[in-house]
Formats: sequence, C-alpha cells, structure tokens
Amino acid sequence: MASFDFEGHITDIVDYPKPGVVFKDITTLLKDPDGFAATIDAIADHFAEAGVTKVVGAEARGFMIGAPVAYRLHAGFVPARKPGKLPREVRSASYELEYGTDELQIHVDAIGPDDVVLIVDDLVATGGTAEAQVKLIEQFGAKVAGLGFLMELAFLNPRETIAKVTDAEVFSLVKVS
Ligand code: PRP
Ligand code: MG
Repeated sequence: MASFDFEGHITDIVDYPKPGVVFKDITTLLKDPDGFAATIDAIADHFAEAGVTKVVGAEARGFMIGAPVAYRLHAGFVPARKPGKLPREVRSASYELEYGTDELQIHVDAIGPDDVVLIVDDLVATGGTAEAQVKLIEQFGAKVAGLGFLMELAFLNPRETIAKVTDAEVFSLVKVS
C-alpha cells in the first residue's frame, strides 16, 4: 500500500469555509476502503518500533485517524476533548485560534509518567492544536514519541511551532507546499 495516491483522493474545496481558503476534504479518502486502510497502516507502520503505549487524538477529526492507529499499534487511545465533554477531573491546555483561544482536555488518569505517547491528527496547519497536545502530555510527565498526520500544510510552517515544544519526530503522509 506504500504507493497509494493519498493526495489524489483528497478533494480541494475552493472558498470554504470562507473566500480565499482551499479546504482539504479528506472524507473522499476515508470513504475509500483501500484509502482508509493505507492511511492508517502508513502512520502506524511508521511508528511501529517507537514503543507507543498511548495514542492521543484531538476532537473531532483526530478521533477518525488516531483511534484506528492506536488499534493497529495495540496501544491505548486517549481522546483530547473540547472543554466540558469529559465527566471526570481533567488536565487542560489552551491554544490560539484565528480569533481567540480554545482548549483541549484529557482525564487525569488517562496517561501515566511511563507512557510513550503518539499524537495523531488528520491535519497539522499552524501547529497550534499539536502544540497544545504536547503541552498537555508533558503535564503527565510522559514522553511524546512522535506526531503523525495525514496532511501537513507545510506553507504554514507547523514544524517551527512544534519544534518549540518538542524534538519528537513529525511525520506526514501528504505535504501541501
Ligand atoms: C482541524 C484539524 C486539526 C487542526 C489543525 O481541527 O482537524 O485538529 O484543525 O490546525 P492547527 O494546526 O492550525 O491547529 P478543528 O479545530 O478544525 O476541529 P475538528 O477536528 O473538530 O474539525
Ligand atoms: Mg481537529
């Protein structure tokens, strides 16, 4: 499956959600049985030797990619949720949006200091969401093993943002320059 045409299965939606933006619609890739399997396999295979014990995926699209990657790695899956969604005590980290800030939360007992954690999401754009997840995982004293994305908007330089908080490897299947 290494030769799967990921980019060819992602649909560009011009002027969505607002004029001047080209939205990368991954649903056309995920609905394809070979495309979905190749996506999950490629990310999981890349980190197969990293000793990953937990995968963190951010609400909502991070669940789609993160949970099956966790299954493939036989790791646990930890949802990083938007505020107010988790029923018990949480740890939180905030991140910048275009206007204002948002927050991600993880249950206090979801990760331990001995965990080796892989962050998985569909997309890294500014890197703000990933940065918040790194900061969150560090609150638990756990190691970030790497960050795996289906798509990277390289022209927004997310690796610079991520490098400020971790030297863990960043892996992306599709890079948009
Ligand atoms: C999207 C995407 C990533 C994030 C990347 O999520 O799923 O999580 O943006 O952007 P960044 O690198 O600039 O932080 P979004 O916040 O739109 O929410 P969703 O996953 O619930 O659709
Ligand atoms: Mg998201």
